[in-house]
Amino acid sequence: MGEEEASKGEDTVEEIRRMSGYGGDVIAVGGFPTSDSESDSDLAAAEIMIIWAIQGPTSFAPNTLVSQSSLELRLDACGHSLSILQSPCSLNTPGVTGSVMWDSGVVLGKFLEHSVDSKDLSLEGKKIVELGSGCGLVGCIAALLGGDVVLTDLPDRLRLLKKNIDTNLQSGNTRGSAVVQELVWGDDPDPDLIEPLPDYVLGSDVIYSEEAVHHLIQTLVQLCGDQTTIFLSGELRNDAVLEYFLESALKDFAIGRVEQTQWHPDYRSRRVVLYVLEKKSKRCLADVSSLNQSC
Ligand SMILES: C[S@@+](CC[C@H](N)C(=O)[O-])C[C@H]1O[C@@H](n2cnc3c(N)ncnc32)[C@H](O)[C@@H]1O
Repeated sequence: MGEEEASKGEDTVEEIRRMSGYGGDVIAVGGFPTSDSESDSDLAAAEIMIIWAIQGPTSFAPNTLVSQSSLELRLDACGHSLSILQSPCSLNTPGVTGSVMWDSGVVLGKFLEHSVDSKDLSLEGKKIVELGSGCGLVGCIAALLGGDVVLTDLPDRLRLLKKNIDTNLQSGNTRGSAVVQELVWGDDPDPDLIEPLPDYVLGSDVIYSEEAVHHLIQTLVQLCGDQTTIFLSGELRNDAVLEYFLESALKDFAIGRVEQTQWHPDYRSRRVVLYVLEKKSKRCLADVSSLNQSC
């Protein structure tokens, strides 16, 4: 990640950067440490204060881009009219969250499409692993954009996921490919997921409980090489869980926040945040010129 420009406000010190797998600007989480003693925990706490101050998420209604009570979500993406089947009744089953769509999934899917259209991202021929795919919208869009996508989730979530892939991606209408595979966070990934390591890892609304954070980060570390870029979108519903995630993830990853101005203009939400993560070891390697070549 290479520094491009820095802006200093009265109360916050922001650092605008580029990541190597995404051509748009991101705001470095934590900004410039103002002293050597600033820990990952200070940086995570500062990020939470900034986001809650800028976006005021709790003043806005959740789930405005989806209807979780309907059996189908229809969405136009990549020149296709997608039909994503949902199972609203399953939401009443404790622990089941992926049976319906969440705003952050729509935001991430449409962000990928918009970024490819804006030439800030290329997914053509790229190996992509999606975590906690749920109903599969994000993975479907990534495959339509040319990625070779493995959509993953818990074993009991795979049936609906497969149905949605079969409904929306027929050979002939898809530039890339999509397969569904079980992946439980914290378990060793199947060799085909990590040999070779993916170019991109995607996840929407996968940061939602403190218990899951440790295993989620373990899986991100296992899937992430020097050439891997991670996009995570999240619902701003619980500041403590997000802060815990950021603090833990900052040990291994450089993290940038993508501002809403870079999202798809019709799919923005003050209750959603979008991060790009890359392994810390490459932090100093990328510069703007190499970025222009890779994107
Ligand atoms: C809130 S849902 C989000 C679903 C989808 N990404 C979206 O945005 O609509 C969280 C997803 O993570 C999956 N998940 C939760 N814990 C998991 C774990 N330990 N291992 C793998 N997947 C998990 C759930 O099954 C669910 O599909």
